[in-house]
Amino acid sequence: MMDRTMFNPSGDDGVISTNDDASGCKRHAVRVGYWKDDYIGSFVSNTDRKAPEINRGYFARVKGIEIFIDKFLEKTGDKCQIINLGCGFDTLYWRLRDAGHMITNFIELDFPMVTSRKCMAIKRHKNLLSKLHCEDGEVRFNPTDMHAANYHVMGVDLRHIDEIENKLKQAEVDFTLPTLFLAECVLVYIESEHCSNLLKWLSSHFSSGFIVNYEQVNMNDRFGEVMLSNLRSRGCDLAGVEACQTLDTQIDRFLNCGWHGAKAWDMVQVYQSLPSNEIQRIEKLELLDEAELLTQLFQHYCISISWTGEEFEDIEIT
Ligand SMILES: C[S@@+](CC[C@H](N)C(=O)[O-])C[C@H]1O[C@@H](n2cnc3c(N)ncnc32)[C@H](O)[C@@H]1O
Repeated sequence: MMDRTMFNPSGDDGVISTNDDASGCKRHAVRVGYWKDDYIGSFVSNTDRKAPEINRGYFARVKGIEIFIDKFLEKTGDKCQIINLGCGFDTLYWRLRDAGHMITNFIELDFPMVTSRKCMAIKRHKNLLSKLHCEDGEVRFNPTDMHAANYHVMGVDLRHIDEIENKLKQAEVDFTLPTLFLAECVLVYIESEHCSNLLKWLSSHFSSGFIVNYEQVNMNDRFGEVMLSNLRSRGCDLAGVEACQTLDTQIDRFLNCGWHGAKAWDMVQVYQSLPSNEIQRIEKLELLDEAELLTQLFQHYCISISWTGEEFEDIEIT
């Protein structure tokens, strides 16, 4: 019998529930046809209809992040690691497998409340389980963690560095391999001091690291204030919002934590850089009533990248 408080004694329920929002929105956008994901439906079954602006926002988020994943993999090939921070129900491992990739090691971290549900879904769905590679034919599960040969999901609070180190060792992390860190709408939920500790620890331990971070920006204007108060009223504080004031504050947070370089783009720029045939295709899917609202949303989210290894410094959005 699993007790909620056993896994989450500190009361992070509001933050944890953001995974249900994100996964539900992705599931709906996939169903409408914005992008293909054969696996999200195994983690989330029913979702409400979402507004077209939300669907387009998620499309830009998923496709924008994909650009940088592809650029990283073009440089490293599959001999690399991916560490998905605050992974939620992300299906990237399975999408990469379908695209022919067999990454050396793929590690997913989130609160135990989330990873226990991810483990359960993987165990129950053959389409997920059958794609996990295991040398001895066995995938090891406990209620919050699972380990296959090159895929690991583990429950951990990203504010606790000792726990992270311990978990990464359990997943046989290799600090010398090129490593892609994904932080898709995660760092903003972590208090600045804890986030700095995490970023410093990563930059000092991985000699060839590349991080892709998606989250809020321009949060000090009126629209940003309204976003903040809406989230607070749903019990979800953006504890790390300090780094989300401008694209420069996004860049500085990495440079101040030992990363060698960083770049950032708001989602207006990211959307404009996506392939025009894809934009034309998705813009026909649904009529957009609130074009101005979509622009405002795009102005308030960004993708930033940062690196410790020199080989990643020429990566650009286009
Ligand atoms: C908005 S969801 C995003 C999930 C996934 N990255 C995606 O984009 O689909 C934020 C995720 O970060 C996780 N998270 C936030 N703070 C965390 C912490 N301190 N430790 C572990 N996970 C955390 C939440 O549990 C949640 O799953």
